[in-house]
Amino acid sequence: MDFRSDTVTKPTLAMRQAMVDAAVGDDVYDDDPSVHALQNKMAELLGKEAALFVPSGTFSNQLAIMAHTRRGDEIIVLEDAHIFYHEAGAPALLSGVNMRQATSVGGSYDLETLPGLFREDDIHFPRTSLLCLENAHGNGRVVPLENMKGAYTIAKQKGAAVHLDGARIFNAAVYLGVEAREIAQYADSVSVCLSKGLAAPIGSVLFGTREFIEKARRYRKIMGGGMRQVGILAACGLVGLEEVLPRLEEDHRLARYMALGLDEIDGLEIAWDRLNINMVFFSLEEKIDLASALEERGIIINPEEDGEYRFVTHIGVGKEDVDRLLVAMKEILQ
Ligand SMILES: Cc1ncc(COP(=O)(O)O)c(C=O)c1O
Repeated sequence: MDFRSDTVTKPTLAMRQAMVDAAVGDDVYDDDPSVHALQNKMAELLGKEAALFVPSGTFSNQLAIMAHTRRGDEIIVLEDAHIFYHEAGAPALLSGVNMRQATSVGGSYDLETLPGLFREDDIHFPRTSLLCLENAHGNGRVVPLENMKGAYTIAKQKGAAVHLDGARIFNAAVYLGVEAREIAQYADSVSVCLSKGLAAPIGSVLFGTREFIEKARRYRKIMGGGMRQVGILAACGLVGLEEVLPRLEEDHRLARYMALGLDEIDGLEIAWDRLNINMVFFSLEEKIDLASALEERGIIINPEEDGEYRFVTHIGVGKEDVDRLLVAMKEILQ
C-alpha cells in the first residue's frame, strides 16, 4: 500500500494492452499517430490550439518557461509553487531567468500586491515576461477561478505571458465542477501530467498556441526530449483519459474518508482547509518516525516535509487499504 503520491500508480491492464496495440511512428518527425491522437484530443479538452507530448511535468514547465522568456528576464512564481520549490532551480539553469517570489495565500496570488511584482520598463530592471500559476496547487488546494482570472488579467495588463502548471488540472476541474478548459482559459500555456492521477506510466503534455508549441518543439529537441516511437506511451495517456479520468472523483471521496478516520486519532491535526483533491495533509503533535512504523506494517508513505505529512489516494488504493492504514495509524499513535 503506497500513499506517497499519485505518481506511484501502475499502468492499468488496458494501458498495457494499448501499448501492445498502439500504432506508432517517429515523433521527432512528428508522424506518430498515437501521439497525434493524444495531443489533438487533449488540446480539444483544454481549449488550446496545439499540444506537445513531453517526458515529465518538470520538463513541460521548463519548456514553457524557455519558450515564453529570454535570458535575463524575470518570472513571477509563488513561493510554494512546484516550479520554484521542487524543480531544483531549473529556470535559472536552463532559461537563465530570475525567479521573483510572491507570497502564497494558500496557493493563490494576493491580487492586491501582485501588480507591484511586475517590473517597470527601466534599464536597471529585468523584464517581467511570465507569471506562473499552479492549479490544483501541490498543497492540496484548488485555486478559485476568480483568483486565476484576476491574476491573468493583471499579467495581460502588464504585457506578460501566463503559464499554468496544471499537473493536476483534472483534479481541480473535478473539485470545481467545471470542464478543464474553463481553468485553462486563464493561461497562455498549460502543462498537464498523465503520470499522476491518470495512472499513465510516463508523460506530460504542454498546450498553447500553434506558434508557441512550435517553439517548444524546438526546445524539446535541444533538451534531448525528442522521443521516437513514443506512441506506446501516448496510447496509455489515451486510456487514462477514457478509463481513469471519469473515476478521479473516487480518489477525492476516499481522501475525505481517510481524513475523517484520521481525525478520530488523538495528537493528529488535519489541514481541513486544504482537503480539496486527493491529498490529506496533517501534522503530529509528537515527533515520531511514522514512515518507519508504517513500513513495518507494509504501508509506504513519504517522510514528514516542513512539519507535515501528506497521504495521497489514487487508483492503486481502495477503501479497504485506507481502513488498514487507519488501523495501523491508531496502533502507532495511541
Ligand atoms: C504541481 C506539480 N507540478 C509539476 C510536477 C512535476 O512532474 P514530474 O514529476 O513529472 O516532473 C509535479 C510532480 O509531482 C507537481 O506536483
